[in-house]
Amino acid sequence: MTSVANDIEFRSVSKRYGAVTAVSDINLAVPKGAFVALLGPSGCGKTTCLRMIGGFEHPSEGEVFVGGAAMNGVPAYRRPVNMVFQQYALFPHFDVENNVAYGLKQLRPRLSKAEIARRVGEALEMVRLGGYAARRIHELSGGQQQRVALARALVNKPSVLLLDEP
Ligand SMILES: Nc1ncnc2c1ncn2[C@@H]1O[C@H](COP(=O)(O)OP(=O)(O)O)[C@@H](O)[C@H]1O
Ligand SMILES: [Mg+2]
Repeated sequence: MTSVANDIEFRSVSKRYGAVTAVSDINLAVPKGAFVALLGPSGCGKTTCLRMIGGFEHPSEGEVFVGGAAMNGVPAYRRPVNMVFQQYALFPHFDVENNVAYGLKQLRPRLSKAEIARRVGEALEMVRLGGYAARRIHELSGGQQQRVALARALVNKPSVLLLDEP
């Protein structure tokens, strides 16, 4: 049994890549609504932990829970989680607006164009990029690109927001 009070739980989670143990027997409980930072030296397994929460990697052993539900076999796009990747992974051929709108356009039943525009505008305001909707990604500074990636994650109103930093 797990407590629904926790946004994230790791139960004895390990992750191996061949001979490399990236994460070794982690137990972790992140209470609902908490802001938590995983700190540690380069290569200690922080990104791997985030990728297992997001569903981009799977534990070799143990279990990950999000909102009290076991995530075994739940694909990334079905998890109430969004991740801002270390390299942002923005779509270079889209402008800012279409980068942020991407997730909303995948939803079924479809949202109206007006609703998508409203929510994209709200997300861009939140990261102080209100005037940048029509900019191409390569026309932005690194920090502005990071804020586009943040807006793209926030626009889906995820229960869990993961920020991976170098
Ligand atoms: N896909 C992979 N294949 C093999 N080894 C990996 C892979 N991803 C990460 N690692 C290794 O796992 C360890 C943890 O990596 P990572 O989680 O990226 O660390 P951090 O984010 O804390 O810097 C490192 O030793 C890294 O080289
Ligand atoms: Mg990392």
